[in-house]
Amino acid sequence: MTLIPVPTTAIIVVAAGSGTRLGAVAPKAFVGIDEHSVLRHALDGVFAAEAAQVIVVAPSGHEGDAETELLAAAGDRHDLGRVVTGGETRQQSVAAGLAALWGDITTVLVHDAARALTPPAQIDAVAAAVTIDAGVIPAIAVIDTLKRVDAGDVVAAVDRSELAAAQTPQGFPRGLLEAAYAAASASGVEYTDDAALFAAAGHPVRHIAGSERAFKITTPGDLARARQILNVRAEPAGTSSPRIGVGTDVHAFGGEGHLWLAGLEWPGEQPLSGHSDGDAVAHAVVDALLGAAGLGDIGEHFGTSHPEYAGAHADVFLARTAQLVSEAGFTIGNVSVQFQGNRPRFAARRAEAERTLSAALGGASVAVTATTTDGLGFTGRGEGIAVTAVALIYPG
Ligand code: CTP
Ligand code: MG
Repeated sequence: MTLIPVPTTAIIVVAAGSGTRLGAVAPKAFVGIDEHSVLRHALDGVFAAEAAQVIVVAPSGHEGDAETELLAAAGDRHDLGRVVTGGETRQQSVAAGLAALWGDITTVLVHDAARALTPPAQIDAVAAAVTIDAGVIPAIAVIDTLKRVDAGDVVAAVDRSELAAAQTPQGFPRGLLEAAYAAASASGVEYTDDAALFAAAGHPVRHIAGSERAFKITTPGDLARARQILNVRAEPAGTSSPRIGVGTDVHAFGGEGHLWLAGLEWPGEQPLSGHSDGDAVAHAVVDALLGAAGLGDIGEHFGTSHPEYAGAHADVFLARTAQLVSEAGFTIGNVSVQFQGNRPRFAARRAEAERTLSAALGGASVAVTATTTDGLGFTGRGEGIAVTAVALIYPG
């Protein structure tokens, strides 16, 4: 086992906010940037910096999730990390982190998990610049021209050369920061950041160069920026994962001629009535595939407004459907379809039906099963057939 010297610097990573402005389902720290969350990226940066005690301040109820991210990022430095529960405000969350400091700590850095892509060098630079009596913040120049406004009026220009945008981590000598936090909580004042709180206690704060990459993920636009930096492929929502679709169809027995079902002709069996050949198995498969691809339904593509399909068989419907799915950018994974009905007796021709349907879909895997309904319902009374199909398709 490697013995790590006890560090004298601690980094409190505040991750207990809910992320209201981001508007995701999960708290902001647990929203994915790529395959890793905001918190995981922040912690990767923290553990790539000089060894320090790492205190993750998690939203109440998410301590276990934070622990998982901490262990994954810490590697063999996991003894340096722990998770504590945050509070209602950022200030309370930092206070919860301060309460978990080890005795040997002399320098405390407070870092927003939301600044997930902060370079480790920025963390080290802040830690190195803290002195026994002064705090340090990273800051970058303000680029926009700023105005002081009042209701609808521009009241004054603001000289931006006097301004800087504050980032994190913000570093402080431990004793003075603890005292400043105690004073702030006694006064009940909420400060916008740790530097403001520290300065209010009468201590100097200096600044060093921050970096563009240390921007805070606040809005969906910021999340998109982080994804762009990490080169996450921008794709329309939902197209990066497999997609599933369901289709059902029901036809009554009736009419003249032979039955067509599952792409096969069944001489001597009573036909199904309906537009085209009444092949309810094929029609359910078409709807499942169109549904998976988000392409509407069978009525839209093959209904009565398309007389060219009247009397067409499964091979025509399915080939056209496969073409539509492919043009929409998907490959068919597999299709599973089941019909309920007393007739035809299916088992003997199952393989033949599956081959026929698969060929019509360009070779995709198709499974067909059949069941009776124990004499119940319209299928049990032999009035018709009911079919359910599911299809899985992949982008690409
Ligand atoms: N934070 C915290 N505890 C709180 C509020 C905020 O630990 N009660 C943390 C956030 O998790 C974030 C950092 O402080 O890492 C900066 O806060 P902000 O960007 O405002 O995050 P949220 O408060 O989560 O977002 P919002 O204000 O949009 O709800
Ligand atoms: Mg907030």
